[in-house]
Amino acid sequence: MMHSRILGVGSYVPPGIVKNDDLKQWMETSDEWIQQRTGIQQRHWVEINSEIGNSDLAVQAVERALAAARVKKDEIEMIIYATLSPDVEFPGTACFLQAKLGLPGIAALDIRQQCTGFIYGLSIADQYIRTGFYKKILVVGSEVHSRGLDRSTRGRDVTVLFGDGAGAVVMGPINTDNKSDSQVYSTHLHADGAHAKDLWIKSDCSSYPGERITQAHLEAGDHYPKMNGKTVFVNAVKRMPEAIHEALKANCLRVSDIDLFLFHQANLRINEMVGKQLEIPEEKIFNTIDRFANTTAATIPIGMDEAVKAGKLKPGMLVALAAFGSGFTWGSAILRW
Ligand code: ACO
Repeated sequence: MMHSRILGVGSYVPPGIVKNDDLKQWMETSDEWIQQRTGIQQRHWVEINSEIGNSDLAVQAVERALAAARVKKDEIEMIIYATLSPDVEFPGTACFLQAKLGLPGIAALDIRQQCTGFIYGLSIADQYIRTGFYKKILVVGSEVHSRGLDRSTRGRDVTVLFGDGAGAVVMGPINTDNKSDSQVYSTHLHADGAHAKDLWIKSDCSSYPGERITQAHLEAGDHYPKMNGKTVFVNAVKRMPEAIHEALKANCLRVSDIDLFLFHQANLRINEMVGKQLEIPEEKIFNTIDRFANTTAATIPIGMDEAVKAGKLKPGMLVALAAFGSGFTWGSAILRW
């Protein structure tokens, strides 16, 4: 039976490190507040006046993923690009990446599922590969949050949480009936648009009378992300365990069968609570939030790459992914590495 598998992973974060205390040059905050509530110690941000954009980070991550997969770039037939901080409003950032990689003509698709974007992308790639329609697909998650955050005290509840970075995987086919072979077992996707405004950017937009962006929008800071933090927290700790249970049930597996859990990294407290509910031993959860903060769609592939480099993710391991984010969207996947 045809399945998809991850052939290689790569990631890239910009070199500039912003420690919690560095944020004090713009806003009233403290290292203690941030660490206590989120587990974040630092994040990587692009140089604000540089020419480096979202697709530039992605190019670096993709080159590393192609090298890890030992796949030549001209074998790629489709790019799936998950981001909430695109290069420009339109066209999609997958088109910019495609041009930078020099791959004219191949399919280029942007998806907007925020923190769950990578799992949505993995699921789409999995379907295309299982049906035999495409053989090699790049799934990319990349974010440049730093240029879109309110650096004043007004925005501190959101701004301190986010980092820039990119991650990518090369997906390919495997024809097997052996569950011990590397493969994606299943993916599970969900959304609840009733919560769309609990974590969003109001403007620029086409859903209000008048111009897409007005002086009033700018003065109100409507072009910055706004979050109802407690509602996000409560829903994340409910939906992520649900999604893991769903994936385990679909594959007749138990928590103890999973070798490594890679969760979205929004807040260390969220992941600790999810781990406790599912009774996962601490050493089976791989966290990166202390170093990279929340890199939204890039978080899971960055986590995969870091886990490989740390020797925590090895061939043959059974891996469970779960994410929750704006939309609200959430999802899970189980795969054999
Ligand atoms: N530094 C210092 N003080 C701050 C900061 C900051 N960066 N941000 C907020 N505060 C203050 C508030 O103004 C408030 O002060 P007040 O009591 O005088 O009014 C106080 O700290 C408490 O604020 P709360 O918002 O109640 O803090 P809370 O304990 O809820 O923690 C947090 C906020 C960490 C954002 C939490 O709600 C959370 O983790 N929510 C989950 C959402 C999440 O992680 N989102 C990430 C992105 S979305 C995603 O990826 C799913």
